[in-house]
Amino acid sequence: MSRLVVVSNRVGLPSSRGGRAGGLEVALTEALQAKGGLWFGWSGQVAEATSTAPKLTTLNDITYATVDLGHSDHRPYYEGYANGALWPIFHYRLDLLRYVREEFDGYLRVNARLAAMLAPLLQPDDVIWVHDYHLIPLASELRRLGVGNRIGFFLHTPLPSPDVLVALPGHAALTEALAAYDLVGFQTRRDLHAFQSYIREEAGGEVTDDGHILAFSRVFRAGAFPIGIDTPTMETLSTEAAESEEARRLRDSLAGRSLIIGVDRLDYSKGLPHRLAAFEHLLATRPEHRGNVTLLQIAPPSRSALAQYKALRRELEQAAGRINGRFAEFDWTPIRYVGRTHRRELLAGFNRTARVGLVTPLRDGMNLVAKEYVASQNPDDPGVLVLSRFAGAAQELTGALRVNPLNMEETADALHRALIMPLAERRARWEVMMEGLRRNTVGAWVDGFLSLLRRPSDQAEQEPLPPPRPPRAAA
Ligand code: G6P
Repeated sequence: MSRLVVVSNRVGLPSSRGGRAGGLEVALTEALQAKGGLWFGWSGQVAEATSTAPKLTTLNDITYATVDLGHSDHRPYYEGYANGALWPIFHYRLDLLRYVREEFDGYLRVNARLAAMLAPLLQPDDVIWVHDYHLIPLASELRRLGVGNRIGFFLHTPLPSPDVLVALPGHAALTEALAAYDLVGFQTRRDLHAFQSYIREEAGGEVTDDGHILAFSRVFRAGAFPIGIDTPTMETLSTEAAESEEARRLRDSLAGRSLIIGVDRLDYSKGLPHRLAAFEHLLATRPEHRGNVTLLQIAPPSRSALAQYKALRRELEQAAGRINGRFAEFDWTPIRYVGRTHRRELLAGFNRTARVGLVTPLRDGMNLVAKEYVASQNPDDPGVLVLSRFAGAAQELTGALRVNPLNMEETADALHRALIMPLAERRARWEVMMEGLRRNTVGAWVDGFLSLLRRPSDQAEQEPLPPPRPPRAAA
């Protein structure tokens, strides 16, 4: 079998994990180890100038090739177009979209530079798998350099419907760049349909019954591949972690009260202010929960250089302080707001302790936190997942109480229902979800995507088409 090359903005370097490797990282590492592989991307370092060649480190049959980015590249690429334009619009936040022409140019420039540094490392039969919105133009840049390998792309975020996507300056160049891949993967059928609609309505292309896209003078495949978690490991981890010193301290501190847990990167897509408002509404309208329930919200800061993220942090700190001031008693604080990352094992133990997992993003590609909450439960006494209908995971986790996070009353009602739900119903709901999580693991996701990527497209082989133009100008 051919060698695998993974490309992502952040690289899962063993030295940078500090025991925190997530399921995706572990699954990609395993896939890379299977035949010896290469993982290429940004080093996480912002330097004076962008590297001219990657730094190579080999460990356990995997070569890690990382590149420092100079300030003048990192800012427009990462803080600029990727996180100031693509991230908000992919999460339906037209109001937060900030388009600056130089940032779009910087985004394209960094992709071209990365392609130029990756190309010399490639072998003729390597299979290349590119991840996420930072790197959409990478394949078209590689093609321009004569790379003919099979290249796949997976978008970890949602893809909005065409009427939203066309508001993004650069959308035509970006969607054309996707045509340089052999396989484009999305999290859910909804995202795939959005892409297919765009191809038909905006690009004048065609979608065949077997999932081929004919557009921009290319034939390629697109499919939905809902990402999973490492379910067996999470089950073991949470069983062990429930006995840890920290989990015991958490239980002791609750003094018999029910725990609601939320774990999110501090990002506006996660619906955190709406979540606190719903919890406040629960306490205001159902006094029986006062003094009897605690919300533990873990929200490590993210992308803190960006103004929207700074503002969100202030807003949440104020809201948590205000709600605590309104309801706290001398021996009970309703909200414990923690702004730090925690080790995966600790979180697994905390999840198992929580009667309710509260996962209410306004939009989310998948949301693995929801899946990890379910997999961490005690089968004899499982908790209840309250889940936003706008998380990709909601399409699979049918045993959750599904809410519209914009509807504060509905979320508060779901919390109430979750807190009083009888054991038999909790178990029935949990079992339905676990069955799916045991089937669709992250390992199965990796295998499913790669086996389709490795399979040549009959139509593409019969009818060779010219390579696409690299993206150059904003639409
Ligand atoms: C999301 C994105 C990832 C990204 C992660 C953390 O999950 O889909 O590509 O790595 O957020 O964000 P950061 O900006 O810190 O890499």
